Amino acid sequence: MIKKFIILTSIINATFCMEHEIIEPIIPIDEPLHIAILVSGNGSNMEAILSCFERFEKRGLIKPCVVISNKKDAYALKRAQKEVETKFKNPVPTEYLPIKAAVTEEEKENARREYAHKLIACLSKYDVTPENGLICAAGFMLILHKDFINHFPNKIINIHPSLLPAFPGADAIKKAFLSGVKITGVTVHFIDEGMDTGLIIKQKSVDIDNYDTEKTLEEKIHKVEHELFPKVIEQYATDKIAIAHDKVRNRLVVYIID
Ligand code: GRF
Repeated sequence: MIKKFIILTSIINATFCMEHEIIEPIIPIDEPLHIAILVSGNGSNMEAILSCFERFEKRGLIKPCVVISNKKDAYALKRAQKEVETKFKNPVPTEYLPIKAAVTEEEKENARREYAHKLIACLSKYDVTPENGLICAAGFMLILHKDFINHFPNKIINIHPSLLPAFPGADAIKKAFLSGVKITGVTVHFIDEGMDTGLIIKQKSVDIDNYDTEKTLEEKIHKVEHELFPKVIEQYATDKIAIAHDKVRNRLVVYIID
């Protein structure tokens, strides 16, 4: 039965490869995926991810390594510690890593570059490397410098509360609500140097109903986020996600091969 399944999967993959040139099978490693979570605020997505970790950990899929916040008073840090106390035998460490204050454009660029290298060093301390790691931005409010992105190619993912490319940037739920659109949603995407412009991995739509308020919409969005993000991490950890050159659209796209 297992053999049959493997043969079937190979046929599907072979057909898929003929039509799409696979650029990057994302994670060709045998050890568990080393996960770091970057946060700045409330941390509900982080909690949703941490809650699934136990299940994933048992299957040897992932190893939660560290939660890093750029804000000292982020509620996410408290949540991580609470979650750890109540659920895990082996605590997930937390780190507060601030960015240097800057005023001019040049100072800002320098601060972001310096931060990139501090972040790389911090991740390496917790054994999150380009070879074994996945970095999940869960409400992380800094735009990462290219030095960091280039260090972890296709290893940094973000969750955004809209159907990108619609409503990028801050306040996406509010913007979608006020715009009058009837459908919005959630996107998980790779992070590139732009603002929510990286390759889209997975999206899920959310209806905006007549009786919705901004608050009820926010609740609906968060509910979807908390299911979608852990799901994508699981698919990444089980090697289901690939970046391919789609010959029809003549562009890179992400495929999830289930
Ligand atoms: C989420 O809506 C996420 O999509 C966005 O920031 C928000 C973070 O919420 N990037 P939380 O901190 O995970 O509760």
